[in-house]
Formats: sequence, structure tokens, C-alpha cells
Amino acid sequence: MRELSGKVAVVTGASSGIGRALAVRFAAEGMSLMLADVDARGLTETAAMASEAAAMASGDSGAVSTGSGGKVLTQITDVSDAPAVHHLANRAFGELGGVHVLCNNAGVFQGGRMWTRTEEDFAWLLGVNVWGVLHGIREFVPRMIEQDTEGHIVNSVSVAGLFAGPNLGGQAVSKYAALAASQALAHDLRQVGSKLRVTALCPGGVRTGISRSERVRPADLAVARTRDDLSSQEWLDEVVDKGVDPAEVADATVDAIRDERFLVLTHEGYERSLREQISALLDGEIPEPPDYE
Ligand SMILES: NC(=O)c1ccc[n+]([C@@H]2O[C@H](COP(=O)([O-])OP(=O)(O)OC[C@H]3O[C@@H](n4cnc5c(N)ncnc54)[C@H](O)[C@@H]3O)[C@@H](O)[C@H]2O)c1
Repeated sequence: MRELSGKVAVVTGASSGIGRALAVRFAAEGMSLMLADVDARGLTETAAMASEAAAMASGDSGAVSTGSGGKVLTQITDVSDAPAVHHLANRAFGELGGVHVLCNNAGVFQGGRMWTRTEEDFAWLLGVNVWGVLHGIREFVPRMIEQDTEGHIVNSVSVAGLFAGPNLGGQAVSKYAALAASQALAHDLRQVGSKLRVTALCPGGVRTGISRSERVRPADLAVARTRDDLSSQEWLDEVVDKGVDPAEVADATVDAIRDERFLVLTHEGYERSLREQISALLDGEIPEPPDYE
């Protein structure tokens, strides 16, 4: 889809990090937005930033609507909750007249050894990182197909969806599933001759709030932290600190939408690591994890 101006984007996990950067970039492109997250304050801030970006791009001083007459709407949404995502889709299609770009971006991080992870850990990770993507696909894609226009689904996967490294088990389980969902969706859409395209966004380190995911962990899924889990979080803090700016990820996403690119890697080293991983697997060996960047 080359032309974004005048189209509608839905972004989950829009209160922070990559979701916020996507919202700002889409607004600057002249898109209308439906922004969703569990964090109400962050959502309000992102909506204001998106409105400002739109106004700047259009040379307009107003701060409530995007330059091309688009709107910025927000909806508190827990993406792991099917009725909440159903309501989000109803509002987006009902109030914005359609959806052209869906970013299933909301996600959380939880590290630690495979055998120390609790049911609550997996329920949280799979709820947000997997069910969040699946609910987005189930609620939006049929209506986007029905709409019969060009469109694009962007799933925020991760480098953890490509390499299952040590002390990252639950994260890798959830992100491998998100990658599988993206790939299977792309095949299904192609097989039915749809105009919709798919991108699996696989960033390495990006300077966001992801290593502080516990801030949005539901109380009923909270468990005592373990040493391995905390050391994984410390490791991620460093990766994130050295990471790229979220705006770069938003730029790469817009390029992928325009160029109809499926896999987006934000760090060059991962391409070589992926090829080495395939060779190792075919040789019957456990692939070496990459130098996470
Ligand atoms: N930052 C990185 O280094 C990195 C690397 C690889 C992949 N990713 C992925 O990018 C995506 C965006 O993360 P980020 O890095 O911007 O982190 P972030 O923590 O800054 O943003 C994530 C957003 O998701 C929201 N969220 C969490 N649970 C939610 C739920 N149940 N429903 C709705 N919203 C929820 C949070 O409130 C937050 O606003 C995630 O899917 C993450 O796994 C990030």
C-alpha cells in the first residue's frame, strides 16, 4: 500500500515505545488513528503527540485532528481480552469508517529459565503476546477483507521470535507463536487472493519501556520474582539501553507497508545469525544464539 494519507490505522500498545512511535509517524502521514492500550495516561499523551505531529506535517496549528482531516481516537483495551478487542474493532470501523493498517503491537517481556516459569507467567505472556495478536486477526481481518481495499497487518514479533536463546524461554515461546501466526496469515490471505499484506516486525533492542513490562502486569497474574527472571530483566535493560530509537522502527514499518515486505529486521547482524541457525539446525545441532543487539 503506497498511499497512507487519508487511511486509518489501529495501533495497540500505543501508550509507549514502538506503538507511540508508530502512532506519531502514521499521524504525520495524514492517517486517522485508533490507539489502544491498558495505560490510560500514556494513551492520552500519545494522542496529543500524534495530533501535534499531524498538525506540524500539514502546517496546521490545531492539535486535535490530523492534517488531512483525520481523527485521533483512543480506547482503553486489554488485547488479551476478546470482548475488549471486539469493542475496539467496532469503534474503529464504526467511527473511522474502515481500517487499512492494523498494528498488533502490544507486548510484554518475561525472561527466566523454562522450568522456573509459572502458569501465571505463561498466562500473561501468551495472553498479551499471542492472544493479543490472534484476537486482532480474528476481529479485524474479516472486516478488512470485506472492506475490499488495500490493507496491511503489522504484528510486533521480536528477535525472540527467531532465536530461542537462554533465559528467554517464555518470551521465545510467545514470540515464535506470533511469528507463526503472521506467516500463516500471510499465506491464507494470498491463497484467497486478498489485497491485504502482512509484516512480521522483528526488532532487536529498541529504547522503550519493554524491560519494565511488570508495570502493566495484572495483579491476578502476579508472582514472586525469581533470580533468573531478574537477571534476564537486567540483561534486557542493557540491550534496550543500547538499542535503536523507536522512531527508526516506525520508519522501517512504514517502508515495509509501502514495499510489501514480510520480515523486518532492525539490526543487520540477525540476517547472518538466521542463516547460521538454519545450517546448524540442518546439521542436527543446537543453533548458537545471536549477539542480541
Ligand atoms: N523494545 C524492544 O527492544 C523490543 C524488541 C523486540 C520486540 N519488541 C516488541 O515490540 C512491541 C512493543 O513494545 P515496546 O518495546 O514498545 O515496549 P513498551 O513497554 O514501551 O510498550 C508496550 C505497550 O504495550 C502495552 N500493553 C502491555 N500489555 C497490554 C495489554 N494486555 N493490552 C494492551 N496493551 C498492553 C503497554 O502498556 C505499553 O504501552 C512488543 O510486542 C514487544 O514485544 C520490543
